[in-house]
Amino acid sequence: MNPPNTSKLEVGRRKFIGLATAALAGACTRPTSTTDPGSSDPTTGPPTTQPEITTTTIKTFDPIEAPAVELTQDPFQLGVASGDPDSTSVVLWTRLIAVTEQPIGVVWEMASADDTGYLAIVATGVFEALSDDALSLHVVAEGLMPSTEYIYRFRAGEFVSPVGQTRTTGTGTDSVSVGVSSCQLREAGFWQAHQDIADADLDLMIWLGDYTYRTDGSRTLEELRELHAKYRSDPALQAAHASCAWLVGLDDNDIDNDYSASDNDPELLTAAYKAWWEHQPTRLPKPTGPQMQVYRTLDLGSLAQVILFDTRQYAQPGQDLLGQAQRDWADAAIRQDTAYTIFASPVIVGNLLPGSPDLVPYSWAAHSADSTWIREKFSLTQTPVVVSGDLHTGIVTAVADSAGLPLATEFMAPAISSRLPDELAATAPLLPFANEFVQHLDPKQGWLRLDISASNLKATYRATDALVENDQVTASARFSVAPNAKEAVPEP
Ligand SMILES: [Fe+2]
Repeated sequence: MNPPNTSKLEVGRRKFIGLATAALAGACTRPTSTTDPGSSDPTTGPPTTQPEITTTTIKTFDPIEAPAVELTQDPFQLGVASGDPDSTSVVLWTRLIAVTEQPIGVVWEMASADDTGYLAIVATGVFEALSDDALSLHVVAEGLMPSTEYIYRFRAGEFVSPVGQTRTTGTGTDSVSVGVSSCQLREAGFWQAHQDIADADLDLMIWLGDYTYRTDGSRTLEELRELHAKYRSDPALQAAHASCAWLVGLDDNDIDNDYSASDNDPELLTAAYKAWWEHQPTRLPKPTGPQMQVYRTLDLGSLAQVILFDTRQYAQPGQDLLGQAQRDWADAAIRQDTAYTIFASPVIVGNLLPGSPDLVPYSWAAHSADSTWIREKFSLTQTPVVVSGDLHTGIVTAVADSAGLPLATEFMAPAISSRLPDELAATAPLLPFANEFVQHLDPKQGWLRLDISASNLKATYRATDALVENDQVTASARFSVAPNAKEAVPEP
């Protein structure tokens, strides 16, 4: 693959900023719901580890002012984001760009989605951005209503951030719309898929890893912060983050290509986890060493539960994929009372090429004990649906048992921009002939949309023909999964 001319890419990306800002100003059209403010879902996040984030929530209608700060340029150049929502709270994120060793007081404000003038602020507070955390903020906005859309922004000195839109989870809704994607190699071309995500009015975006690629050789914390900031400067990515809450997972390139933690440099691991945390809207505790627990659940009322796995950090090649602690956690966390269970795995779960489990040597198929374990978990849920990434290809298949019977539908989401890897390029065209469950295989870039109700799960592949500026992203294939079904059905 030859990277495109970088200078042209920079100009194009900057031109996009105005469009993205205008799109944000016109957002927030979904009607809000005020059903059952007393209801509460199980909380999001690892049940074994509580976040250590300091929360500053002040319910007031009076304007709050942060201590005066000397800012000479707009500090909100990396945009805003929200993530890890539950029925009464959500994490709000931004990272300030400023040269200072001093803390910067930042005001955050939330309002109802139709209150674009912020006349009735429903939650606000002041949070200190610290240089130790690259001036990033992870504010837990609490006391919110379930299944309700909000807008939010930050203020520092005379500067006001772009407006973000987010939504709490809960039971007061008939359907949820969820996006899935991964793998955004920056040098591969333009990220139209992110602008399409921003325009899609989603409730949640699931990210299955490879947010950054260390193609510039970054290794230190400062170098990795610069790499993340470079990725975060993309206006389409900023628009996608500002449009809905994200649940962000990790894959190998977030740390090191094809890494497993057992054979990696602890200094690189420590720096990479910290830089990743500083740039993601997550309520995960701040990592302070060469490990970071990333696996967690997210509940979407009675419609769905998302189980987000970490398939890299605890892997022992050829032996163990998840590690005992993660399996124990999942055993306790998986609910049986939701219409659909979304098993979100950064790497493919099904065996793409029956008889050749090592086609993807770091996948579930090459780890027989973990493969058996997850098949048992499928049987505990009403309608298991796997979403996966990593192979930079849209794939619809089924995870089967040893007798060849389907147990769960698997939708592999396309990559935002990364290309089909070499190890799959020669084999991919043969897969629909070698695997009876492969119904769809498309190496085009894009993302996957899931529309989930109690009576149906609709899956729509959104694809782009070329990663050039202003190329269109369109629906390329549609499938549905009925309640209790183990395979997808093609839709017109
Ligand atoms: Fe990737």
